Amino acid sequence: MINEKVQDVLNSQINKEFYSAYLYLAMSAYFDKLGLYGFSNWTKIQAREEVEHGMILFDYIVDRDGTVNLTQIDVPEKDFKNPKQVFEKILEHEKFVTESINCVAEMSEGECDIATRQFIDWYISEQVEEEANARSVIKKLNMFGDEKAALYHLDKELGEREYKHHTYEAG
Ligand code: FEO
Repeated sequence: MINEKVQDVLNSQINKEFYSAYLYLAMSAYFDKLGLYGFSNWTKIQAREEVEHGMILFDYIVDRDGTVNLTQIDVPEKDFKNPKQVFEKILEHEKFVTESINCVAEMSEGECDIATRQFIDWYISEQVEEEANARSVIKKLNMFGDEKAALYHLDKELGEREYKHHTYEAG
């Protein structure tokens, strides 16, 4: 059985991960409209990863004999100004998710739920990577400014991102 307070923050985290997927999909649709299919690919793959993050939490709650509580997912923002603004929003959002993951870690530690404290370590590392990924694209966009050729090359680079499947298995 899982501690109820820990279960609540895990369920709330599921909602945040699925909202993240929605947000990345909205960004992907925006890039498709611009014809930036590489940017669209990158954000679409990120959306799939976010669904996975939500599902790993889902499976973990089930494995701990807890109760999954799915709640309404907010409508994501869909009007963006330019690619750089999108990545700034990504970074801002991922920082918010990092804070939220830190709260899960803190709560599980406070409630002496060592299994969850260990489980959440993977998310802590994942957040470092996600913030770094967004920062790296922002730096490139800052360097190139509005240069169309550079945007074209960056679009090609982001188009090379491939989906990597992650799973959680108890035991
Ligand atoms: Fe699952 Fe982007 O945090």
